[in-house]
Amino acid sequence: MTLKKYFTTPIYYVNALPHIGTAYCTLATDTLARYWRKKIGKENVMFLTGTDENSQKTIDAAEKAGQSVVEYLDEMAGGFKKCWDDIGISYDDFIRTTEERHTKVVTEILQKMYDNGDIYLGNYTGLYCTGCETFLKPDELDENKHCPAHKRAPQEIEEENYFFRLSKYADKLLDLLNTPGFMEPEKRRNEMISFIKGGLEDISLSREGAKIGIELPFDPKHKTYVWVEAVVNYYTSVKSLDKMEFWDEVIHVIGKDITRFHSIIWPAMLMSAGEKTPKKVFAHGFFTVNGEKMSKSLGNVIAPRDLSEQYGNDALRVGLLSSFEFGNDGDFSLDGFDGVYTHKLAGGVGNLFQRVVVLVEKFLEGKKPTITKKHTERLMAQFNTAMENMRIQEAIYTCFQAVHEANQFLNETEVWKVVKEDQEKGKIILGELLEYLEIITDMAEVILPETAPKMKAMLGDAENIGERCILFPRIES
Ligand code: MSP
Repeated sequence: MTLKKYFTTPIYYVNALPHIGTAYCTLATDTLARYWRKKIGKENVMFLTGTDENSQKTIDAAEKAGQSVVEYLDEMAGGFKKCWDDIGISYDDFIRTTEERHTKVVTEILQKMYDNGDIYLGNYTGLYCTGCETFLKPDELDENKHCPAHKRAPQEIEEENYFFRLSKYADKLLDLLNTPGFMEPEKRRNEMISFIKGGLEDISLSREGAKIGIELPFDPKHKTYVWVEAVVNYYTSVKSLDKMEFWDEVIHVIGKDITRFHSIIWPAMLMSAGEKTPKKVFAHGFFTVNGEKMSKSLGNVIAPRDLSEQYGNDALRVGLLSSFEFGNDGDFSLDGFDGVYTHKLAGGVGNLFQRVVVLVEKFLEGKKPTITKKHTERLMAQFNTAMENMRIQEAIYTCFQAVHEANQFLNETEVWKVVKEDQEKGKIILGELLEYLEIITDMAEVILPETAPKMKAMLGDAENIGERCILFPRIES
């Protein structure tokens, strides 16, 4: 059977439009999908993103906007799609949890869990934060007894709830977490293992008072707890598209904040429903902006378009993904971003293409010399290994390394002098430089997808060099 890959991003809440935090995750996942499409063919790759709509946040935000919930949701889901389309996200499916197909699949899964005896009725008393859409334990609150992430007091809730027998799956979950490659990075895997070893409790699965949500099939007075149905979206997509062959190969790319839902609760739900657990969960880190958490109150929330309108989509992608290691926390700064554009893209990639193409035009009348194969294998192996191990930053660095090597070679050989004095010798050097340009173009198809076609056009056909263009224009700040 041919290799398949199925990548998913978290589905995002719609109380605000995308910012560069959610764009970071979406761009990373898009880059992985692009890599694999190139390697195994686009029919063998599937990439899903979407919106998480059945949340109290939706109700609050719609009210604030003075819109009906349906109107609000349509507008926001449209806003997400438009943003992703604008910045070049190549999703194959976009799922909304208010869609009929999702309700249908969630209902089927819940019914199976219920039939397996894993759902029971009980009473719940606890502290609920609508910001997180989760129950918090008293020891998780800050000194003001507020949710530490949302800085407000959680609601005290006492109600009849259905519970999911999560505790029953502790051993099976430990086995899963010990399956090589299932949970990465390692530090997140260790956190999940100690969480389970600390004693896994059953979780509340329904909300009696919820104003929005999917009704429980066995008791329609209750609505499904938003997180419990949201994680099902990944399964809904392939099931509804009749593409179940992708399910075995699903890789959930998420932020570290939602690891427990993806590597403990969701796999246990699948075990209970008798379905296959995900192949991999990869949790990336969080970044601050100039050392500060991005937040509305600080007024430092950056929209993807704030950057892409000025610098272009490829700069947004590479600027974000090269800032810090995928899987670790990091910081993003506008100065650093501008530096990547100016030095690595315009001054690096763009300048190298100009220099080499001008030399071929000027001294060889645009006729391409024989292109060597001295560096392709080494550099492409380095790039491919990085991408296949989710080390996106390293893959980007490999591209920059190729630019650096080529520039160094160009300067050391002083090819512009050589080609005047000894054309044959000059041709050999230019053949090697063109090899570098081909390597960079190959990598660009994954990491600089909008620039890659321009690079190809500059490289021309088998015999002649193509027309020159400015790959990364100077930015007036
Ligand atoms: N709706 C849930 C996810 C349900 S998945 C079944 C949710 N949505 S969210 O809109 O809050 O998005 C969370 C995700 O956004 C994080 O997991 C992470 O991928 C991304 N990020 C949000 N802020 C970020 C940073 N500052 N840095 C990196 N990623 C960030 O949770």
